[in-house]
Amino acid sequence: MNAPRRVGEVVHRVRTPSTETIHRLLRHVRFKGIDWVPQPLALTDSHEALSYLHGTVPHEMPSWIWEESVLCQVASRMREWHDATMDFDSQDAVWALEINTDSAVICHNDFAPYNCVFMDQRMVGLIDFDLCAPGSRLWDMAYTAYRYIPVMPHGQDPRFHERSPFPPEEICRRLDLFLDAYAHGQPRYRHSRQDLLRMMILRLNAIARWTLRYGQETSNPALMQNADMYEYHASRIATLPD
Ligand SMILES: Nc1ncnc2c1ncn2[C@@H]1O[C@H](COP(=O)(O)OP(=O)(O)O)[C@@H](O)[C@H]1O
Ligand SMILES: [Mg+2]
Repeated sequence: MNAPRRVGEVVHRVRTPSTETIHRLLRHVRFKGIDWVPQPLALTDSHEALSYLHGTVPHEMPSWIWEESVLCQVASRMREWHDATMDFDSQDAVWALEINTDSAVICHNDFAPYNCVFMDQRMVGLIDFDLCAPGSRLWDMAYTAYRYIPVMPHGQDPRFHERSPFPPEEICRRLDLFLDAYAHGQPRYRHSRQDLLRMMILRLNAIARWTLRYGQETSNPALMQNADMYEYHASRIATLPD
């Protein structure tokens, strides 16, 4: 009902209490050289207008999404995004989510394939900033790694249809690739796989709680099942090799 609507080169989305802050954030990161996020164009009482980014947004995962080149590029883009948000002035900002105690950067909080724009298997855009909020780099990386590695059970698992095409050893190797690409040779930004996975458990359990509450409020059984899946996937992380 509130789906974004494209008219030519413009996307119209419903305005939320944080839209004004997000437009300021998009202008800030674009000024810093991040030209792969939409340009804020206009704000009315009910809607926002953003520039349309050409390309495709994968919702069903195509096989190329698992290419190492995609994984490394996504990690680099996330690093660029975080770096560009470090000096954003959060005073008077309005965010949709409660603020984490660690607020080194502005987390996108939903940096997943379904919010990335691709062209010729290259990530050319990032969209959907509704969940942005101050937080730590690792907090944001945890969800992106969960989706892009992906850190999910491999092979037949009768409970949930979302699975990883990779066995556990390969999941660990891809996690290291992701962490290396994010660090870009700078040791202070090279987080350990163990820290990332610990954060991923916290992150998935937080999403599970939020999804369950929202599913109950809206009487939506599909959401309640998603909440179960996040919790289950979080519980499986401990079974990965060191
Ligand atoms: N600026 C944009 N450029 C290109 N496509 C967009 C843009 N904004 C939204 N879309 C398209 O609309 C879909 C939904 O938009 P999104 O902003 O992710 O909202 P939500 O996920 O809350 O419905 C996206 O998957 C994408 O296909
Ligand atoms: Mg979206």
